[in-house]
Amino acid sequence: MQLSIVGSGYVGTTIAACFAEVGHDVVNVDIDEDIVAALNDGDAPIHEPGLDELVAEHAGDRLRATTDYAAIRDTDVTFLALPTPSEDDGHIDLSIMKAGARSLGATLAEKDGHHLVVTKSTVVPTTTEAVIAPILTEESGKTLGEDLDIGMNPEFLREGSAVEDFLAPDKVVLGSETERAGDLLRGVFDPLVARAGDPPVVETGVAEAEMIKYANNGFLAAKISLANDIANICKEYDIDSAEVLDAIGLDHRIGSSFLGAGVGWGGSCFPKDVAAIIAAARDVGYDPAMLQAAVEVNDRQPVRLLGRLREHVDPDGARVAVLGLAFKPGTDDIRNSRAIPLVDALLDAGAEVVGYDPVATENFRERYPGIEYADSADAALDGADAALVVTDWPEFADLGSEFDGMATPVVVDGRRIVTRRDGIVYESLV
Ligand code: UDX
Repeated sequence: MQLSIVGSGYVGTTIAACFAEVGHDVVNVDIDEDIVAALNDGDAPIHEPGLDELVAEHAGDRLRATTDYAAIRDTDVTFLALPTPSEDDGHIDLSIMKAGARSLGATLAEKDGHHLVVTKSTVVPTTTEAVIAPILTEESGKTLGEDLDIGMNPEFLREGSAVEDFLAPDKVVLGSETERAGDLLRGVFDPLVARAGDPPVVETGVAEAEMIKYANNGFLAAKISLANDIANICKEYDIDSAEVLDAIGLDHRIGSSFLGAGVGWGGSCFPKDVAAIIAAARDVGYDPAMLQAAVEVNDRQPVRLLGRLREHVDPDGARVAVLGLAFKPGTDDIRNSRAIPLVDALLDAGAEVVGYDPVATENFRERYPGIEYADSADAALDGADAALVVTDWPEFADLGSEFDGMATPVVVDGRRIVTRRDGIVYESLV
């Protein structure tokens, strides 16, 4: 099929390359000329395992990029994969989506025949029908349900395994309101579903599809927070939380994933999506107590980590190594990383901070140009009065003699990744 993707950020680029991989002709539309040029040269604009290879293989053939919306007129289906950032009060900011829908609608005014527009971005329930569709019909002059249809197809890919997550999904969710839109969406996903060994395909309504994304992320974020709540109780009783959580994970009704207790969840999705669905729920008069509690527990974890540090070292004037700046291992993304509240609190308390991360240092430096950075864990630990472990990078499990260079060997582990050994004062958060 002929597909167009508006937006070539994280999700847009990944799905464009993956749709090309399963045999569709894909054009990626973005206002950023550098991104467009890179894609046409066969270079992925973001770092994601497997993406470079797909872009290199399909660029100039089944995958192309342009800044010109007119290219959309030659396609059957358009996916809107534009950012929906957070506003200060948690609501999502739809201005980029609205501007994209406006340009798309104006382009479709010049297209004869039917077009399907699918929301790929994460948007709160009813956005596609109540906000996007009216802009599209107004700008295009088309009639919803006749020569224009809308759809919603939420994305569950994780950073660091985005290509694999897209090509081998647990489930595919297709939201549509008309038979024609449903048929078209199925046509887009049929080759991917066949290749992925027939994962479940959930055919549902547009608003249901929007909600499924928030429900999915809200549930996972709350699951981690519940694990943290339980782990905090264990800590107070001096019970091994890992043994407890591993055991409950064996109950198939609970499951073992996303029970990793520690300093909490970050990233571009969980914090934003949980805040957005809380704000949307309040707009319609409902206070979602469980989701609010999930945020509260998550906010508390870095504070508790500092409490553990204070039991051994007064941060005022202390040199503190922060090991791990990325929001999770395997990425250079620092959005909502737990390192952010921790570094803020350390600086407020008068500490001298030295940060280390295998790949995220440059991104962190942009936000915190004033702190010191080391190019290895060893160098960060050298002369430090304490170390805080914030991200569970596997290399931190191998640290050993590196701790010998510390001025006082206090290690406060927010992820239970460091191996306990003689000669260090080891304190775990959970
Ligand atoms: C998440 C969702 O998993 C994905 O489906 C959605 O599309 C986007 O958001 P991502 O943000 O890339 O993906 O990372 P993920 O691996 O889910 O981790 C999110 C955060 O939770 C990280 O900060 C991670 O460290 C933390 N986490 C994860 C835990 O604290 N414990 C766990 O057991 C798992």
